[in-house]
Amino acid sequence: MKILLTGGAGYIGSHTAIELKKAGHEIVIGDNFSNSKPDVLEKINQIVGQKIEFHEIDFTNQNDTLKLFEECHFDAVIHFAGLKAVGESCTMPIEYYKNNIDSTLNIVEAMKKYDVNNLVFSSSATVYGIPKKLPLKEGMPTSCTNPYGWTKLMNEQILTDVTRANPKFSVVLLRYFNPIGAHESGLIGEDPNGIPNNLMPYITKVAKGVLPELNVFGNDYPTKDGTGVRDYIHVVDLAKGHVDAIEYAEKHRGVEIFNLGTGVGYSVLDIVNTFSRVNNIKVPYRIAERRDGDVAECYADAGKAREVLNWSATKTLDDMCKDSWNFAKNN
Ligand code: WQD
Repeated sequence: MKILLTGGAGYIGSHTAIELKKAGHEIVIGDNFSNSKPDVLEKINQIVGQKIEFHEIDFTNQNDTLKLFEECHFDAVIHFAGLKAVGESCTMPIEYYKNNIDSTLNIVEAMKKYDVNNLVFSSSATVYGIPKKLPLKEGMPTSCTNPYGWTKLMNEQILTDVTRANPKFSVVLLRYFNPIGAHESGLIGEDPNGIPNNLMPYITKVAKGVLPELNVFGNDYPTKDGTGVRDYIHVVDLAKGHVDAIEYAEKHRGVEIFNLGTGVGYSVLDIVNTFSRVNNIKVPYRIAERRDGDVAECYADAGKAREVLNWSATKTLDDMCKDSWNFAKNN
C-alpha cells in the first residue's frame, strides 16, 4: 500500500517508516518539524537505502492537506502528527485542542474527498485516566486528567463517528503505553527538544553529563519500591505493531482498539538500575516530590493485539536500555 505518515519524522513515526518499508509498503512522510528535526529524514533514507518522499506540511492547514491528498493517491494513512507533552498541554490547552483536533478533522475530510479509507491513529494509554483495575483492557472506562489526553480521546470519538457514518471506512486506534529504545543502528531515537519530560530521554542526558542528576518523582507510591510503575515497550516493537495494524485495517471495516504494551510493569528504579547495569554507566538520582498528574501504576493487557493482530512485543528491558543509550551517546 501507499501510506501517508503524518508526523513521520517524529520518534514513533520514523521507526514505523522503517518497518513499513521492510514490509514492502510505499511511504510518504508529511511533517512540520514541530517536534522533530530534518536530519531524521536523511537517517531514515540511510537505513532504508532509498530517498523517502517527503512533504513539509502543517496538517492544521486545510487547503495544504487537501492539496497533498489530491497530488498523492494514498491507500492509507497513519496519523502520528500532534503535540504530545502532558504538562505543556495544561499550560497551553487552546494550542493543544486546535492543533490535535484540527489536524485530524482535516485529514479525515481529505480522506473522504479522495476515497482513502484506511487509517491507523496514534492514541495513548493516557485515555484510561487513573486506572481503577490493572492490567488495562481495551473495553475499560476512559477519562482524562489533562488536555493532551482529552485530545487523544476526542480524536478516538471523532474517528469512531466518522466510521459509523461511512461503512467503507476502517480505523484502528492504537493505545501506546511507554515507548523507549531506538533503532539498532543508533541513527534514530527519542530526541526531544529542550529538557525532556519523559523518563528515558532524561536518564540518557544525565548519563551523558548534560544534566546533573535524575529527579525520581516520588518513592511513596503503593508499588514494590515506592516509585512509579509503567509498561515500557521498545519503539521497534511498537513500530511493528503499526505494520500489523494498517494491514488489518485494509482487510476489515469498522473501528478496532488495541493496547500496544508488553503487559509488564517496571518501576522508575528498575529502569535506572537496568540502564546502569547494561550500559555500565552511573545515573545519579535524588528522590523528589511526586509530579502532578502521575498515577502509581499503569500497564497493559496486550492479549487482544496478540490474538487479533498476531502481534506481541519481543524486546526486553535490557534491549530497550541498551538501544536508548546506543542512540543517545552517538547524538
Ligand atoms: C514515566 C515514569 C514518572 C521523568 C507520558 C504520557 C503518555 C506518553 C508517555 C505521549 C513516571 C517518572 C519521569 C522524570 C521520573 N506520552 N519520571 N523522573 O508520564 O508515564 O507517560 O509519556 O504519548 O501519554 O502520559 O511517562 O516517561 O514522563 O514517566 O521519576 O524526570 O517516570 O513519575 O512514574 P508517563 P514519563
